[in-house]
Amino acid sequence: MYGMIHRAMRNMVHEELGEDAWLALEQKLKIGPMDLLTGKVYGDALTLGIITEAADRLNLAVDQCLIEFGRYWIRYVDQGSLASVMNFTGQDLASFIKNLDRLHLAVGAAMPDARLPAFSTLCNDPGHLVVEYRSERVGLEPFVLGLLQGLMERFHARGDIEVLSRGEKFVIFDIRYQDRD
Ligand code: HEM
Repeated sequence: MYGMIHRAMRNMVHEELGEDAWLALEQKLKIGPMDLLTGKVYGDALTLGIITEAADRLNLAVDQCLIEFGRYWIRYVDQGSLASVMNFTGQDLASFIKNLDRLHLAVGAAMPDARLPAFSTLCNDPGHLVVEYRSERVGLEPFVLGLLQGLMERFHARGDIEVLSRGEKFVIFDIRYQDRD
């Protein structure tokens, strides 16, 4: 994955455990700042290696760490130069999710080697969304769950997310929510 993802992981570990924990992780994986270059592509094995080591240090199972990283990612891209992209994408949970592919299309223009996911809304009723996630990658279901939780938090909604079905290249999420107040 692009190094911008690794940078976000570093920030999460920094915020939770401090600089020393990140340096220890770098040593263990034999990586350095060159593995965090925003515009460079790295193998997914490195991305998973960072998550696995972060999980160990945060005392989380790898899947739980992926959920936490998904939630963190939403807060991360909501800061700095990417905030406008997030604001442009949608003003409520349903429209944001509907426009996710447009967001990634814009990202893809700047990052031509990104292997981006595809999201489609299969049902959009008040307080109820059914969302299909498609990807070439396997194993990111917990990450997507965390992202969707992060989006609910972003839009001050609360509710439950369940998996309706999953296949080799897709996961269908059922989101039941209500807007707070
Ligand atoms: C400004 C905001 C965002 C930026 C810049 C961004 C950028 C990226 C980049 C660079 C990748 C890695 C692709 C690669 O290296 O192959 C990625 C992957 C991914 N993004 Fe985003 N993204 C953003 C927001 C979101 C949001 C809000 C979601 C919420 C669902 C999301 C879901 C995902 C998922 C699930 C993947 C994994 C790709 C896969 O399944 O193969 N992204 N994104």
